Amino acid sequence: MTEAKEVLGVLCSGRGTDLQSIIDAIGRGEVHAKLALVLTDKPDAYALKRAENAGIPAACVNRKEYDDRESFERELVRRLQAAGVTLVVLAGFMRILTPYFVRQFPHRIMNIHPALLPSFPGAHAHRDVLAYGVKVSGCTVHFVDEGTDSGPIILQAAVPVLEGDTEETLSARVLEQEHKIYPQAIELYCEHRLNIDGRHVHILPKKD
Ligand code: GAR
Repeated sequence: MTEAKEVLGVLCSGRGTDLQSIIDAIGRGEVHAKLALVLTDKPDAYALKRAENAGIPAACVNRKEYDDRESFERELVRRLQAAGVTLVVLAGFMRILTPYFVRQFPHRIMNIHPALLPSFPGAHAHRDVLAYGVKVSGCTVHFVDEGTDSGPIILQAAVPVLEGDTEETLSARVLEQEHKIYPQAIELYCEHRLNIDGRHVHILPKKD
């Protein structure tokens, strides 16, 4: 059995279904990591309740209580480091992190984006997908670099865009895939099977 060596810190802004998928995958023994800390930037994020229900330490670092992005991010970093976090997992965290934050965790921050990057980056992926008229969308797990949704891609899953889709129906279909590929990507990281080579992430075969 793989020992849980990686320590996850999950950042969320909202309802936290991606967080829940990670909690559940750890509970089923499919992800071998310790989830040490959940942080939100909003006090009413339902993700806090999910963490509490699972017995995971959680707190809100309320962006509104900080004068600037730098002091806000410094507090996030302080808490993540104090918890011994080795992999930062962005799960519906709706803020762009500055280069300062990214440099504290080089190649150790993952994000999930609800579209097939590099198409439709940004905060309104489903709206942009529907407005453009593409027939296929999906989700992307990637390492975070200093750009927006631009880091090396780890896993992607595609879903069809159907006639009559709304942001709600499309996002529900995409979320089903998010809840599969995010835990998978985290487990690949825990197994040291992700080899970053420039823009490319090579997935190494599983060792027996
Ligand atoms: C997810 O669809 C995630 O991909 C997206 O926010 C949603 C969070 O849902 N993230 C982004 O758009 C990041 N730019 P959740 O709160 O239920 O996990």
